[in-house]
Amino acid sequence: MIPNPPTYASALQNPIFKLIGQTADNMETEAYVIGGFVRDYLMQRNTPKDIDVVAIGSGIDLAQRVAARLSGNPSVQVFKNFGTAMVKTPGLEVEFVGARKESYQRHSRKPAVENGSLKDDQLRRDFTINAMALSLNEKTFGQLLDPFNGLSDLESKILRTPTNPNITFSDDPLRMMRAVRFATQLGFKISEEAYAAIEQNHNRLDIISRERIVDELHKILLSPKPSVGFLLLEKTGLLQHFLPELIALKGIEEIEGQRHKDNFYHTFEVVDNIAKYTDDLWLRWAALLHDIGKAPTKKFQEPIGWTFHGHEFVGSKMVYKLFKRLKMPLNEKMKFVQKMVLLSSRPIALSNDGVTDSAVRRLIFDAGEDIDSLMTLCEADITTKNPNRFQKYHDNFRMVRQKIEEVEARDHVRNFQPPVSGEQIMETFGIGPCREVGQIKDAIKEAILDGKIPNENQAAHEMMLKLGEKLGLQKVH
Ligand code: CTP
Repeated sequence: MIPNPPTYASALQNPIFKLIGQTADNMETEAYVIGGFVRDYLMQRNTPKDIDVVAIGSGIDLAQRVAARLSGNPSVQVFKNFGTAMVKTPGLEVEFVGARKESYQRHSRKPAVENGSLKDDQLRRDFTINAMALSLNEKTFGQLLDPFNGLSDLESKILRTPTNPNITFSDDPLRMMRAVRFATQLGFKISEEAYAAIEQNHNRLDIISRERIVDELHKILLSPKPSVGFLLLEKTGLLQHFLPELIALKGIEEIEGQRHKDNFYHTFEVVDNIAKYTDDLWLRWAALLHDIGKAPTKKFQEPIGWTFHGHEFVGSKMVYKLFKRLKMPLNEKMKFVQKMVLLSSRPIALSNDGVTDSAVRRLIFDAGEDIDSLMTLCEADITTKNPNRFQKYHDNFRMVRQKIEEVEARDHVRNFQPPVSGEQIMETFGIGPCREVGQIKDAIKEAILDGKIPNENQAAHEMMLKLGEKLGLQKVH
């Protein structure tokens, strides 16, 4: 006798599941919830806001009938080519698809393929843990259909493909990135067979759109310990296809007994460190890219040794090219990453040189609103294994932070607004826009940053008059 499959009706408390099951019953067909929803329920993770439903037959028909029975007239988006339909209800999106015999075609431009059984469909999904289905039909409500032992792989924390991984990955090469992403997010191991298939097929990633790759990359970067993913990406050969700038940081060179640190591994330590303090994706990006300028600027210079002069500037230029290549937004997020890379050595230099008020004022002026993020990045950048030095650097930064607070409370240069405007200068001397206006404004700003005058109207006004006189301008107001 075949034992009854385990039942998880408790996963299906949202009334929409019963409604889908009843609708499928009326159509004399079968419907299942499948994929991430089932996996996350069994792992007791947060239940996702998007749900995937497989119908035996037409997913589009089922979606339309379900939508017709739902209150509030939800919209149904039909993707005829893919054979899928999306029903959006408040707080929940349900994607319907008909079971397929061949590859999972969700992202392919090719039209949907031949109808199949549930098992056919499960076989062509990415991982066994994502191929488990719960029945929605009334008689079998909540029964787990798990022909490829996803439950046992879930318990052993292993990512295994339901069929030969060479087939799984050539059906959709993005799945190689997904393997690394799930390994990082869930703390699972990639099975030996799947791992070997990634090593063999990594070149196929080139046919995948940059946007889809970046989506996975973001999920890796937002994991608690992103280095797990990046090291896997590098070892399997995937990383070189989208972030060769990081690979260029790999290795240690030695000349005349002098070595520099391996900036590749250092980078991932920094990313792991920063992940403990921030969930800001872009600050994590800044950590990932903070040293990319070191590869093109590396030089051995007698008698100093290894130098990376100007790597922050070169690195910030590389950020633009990299974002552009990966089709990432070239907006204020990118500018923020550029700014972090550009300023990434400033607090360190400052703490080494002794913390003067004017250096702190300049740093606050240059970093503006992002000064805290910059300090977080610099603290994450401390990866020395020497406990004394580790302590010393952290103490120094604590001092810098304190000084930043003191100086800012007094001088307010974080959101610097010139205390005399260009209009005021023109009015005072009865002149139009000209070089002298810029010169006066600049000199006042510099004087404030150097602490020669306070950041106040009266002092700035007096200085403006003196500067005007020197430039041969006549006060008319
Ligand atoms: N799937 C697949 N191959 C892909 C993408 C998805 O086989 N390249 C299948 C898997 O069964 C997956 C389901 O489609 O579980 C839903 O995909 P998606 O919503 O992208 O991912 P989830 O598994 O739900 O996980 P997450 O929400 O964390 O991305």
